[in-house]
Amino acid sequence: MDIREKLIFARYKAPVAIVVCGNMKLALKGKDKDLWIEDCSAATENMLIAATDLGLGSLWVGIYPVESRINAIKKILNIPDYVIPLNLVYFGYPNEEKEGRTRFDEKRVYWQSYNPERKHKTKDKPVIGHY
Ligand SMILES: Cc1cc2nc3c(=O)[nH]c(=O)nc-3n(C[C@H](O)[C@H](O)[C@H](O)COP(=O)(O)O)c2cc1C
Repeated sequence: MDIREKLIFARYKAPVAIVVCGNMKLALKGKDKDLWIEDCSAATENMLIAATDLGLGSLWVGIYPVESRINAIKKILNIPDYVIPLNLVYFGYPNEEKEGRTRFDEKRVYWQSYNPERKHKTKDKPVIGHY
């Protein structure tokens, strides 16, 4: 598949990939115009949850706002200018089982107002990409 060849960050062996896109002709206008990102992200998360419920594995690969990734996907899939690919999600039957885990950290939760004085460790930052 072209996507796997052209995008080094997206080299996963999965039988199905869905590219979630925002169509700027259908998006809200004016100050609300970027809300398509939230709409499409929520739709993506729903797809991941539904996949898990069906016993499928899934993986979210971020495309937008990285210009080079957007252009590569657009070219491969013949996507017009007014449509922006937000992400690519792989689906397949997982070949391993992993325990569920959480990255919830109570120290990152604020009550009533944000406190910029509070320091956070960065060592547990999520690792994006396993390529
Ligand atoms: C916005 C976003 C972009 C991501 N981009 C990539 C990516 O480019 N490559 C990749 O392998 N995983 C990517 N992931 C998946 C994450 O690396 C990670 O596997 C996923 O969020 C699950 O992590 P968790 O089990 O700790 O919650 C992305 C996830 C999100 C939410």
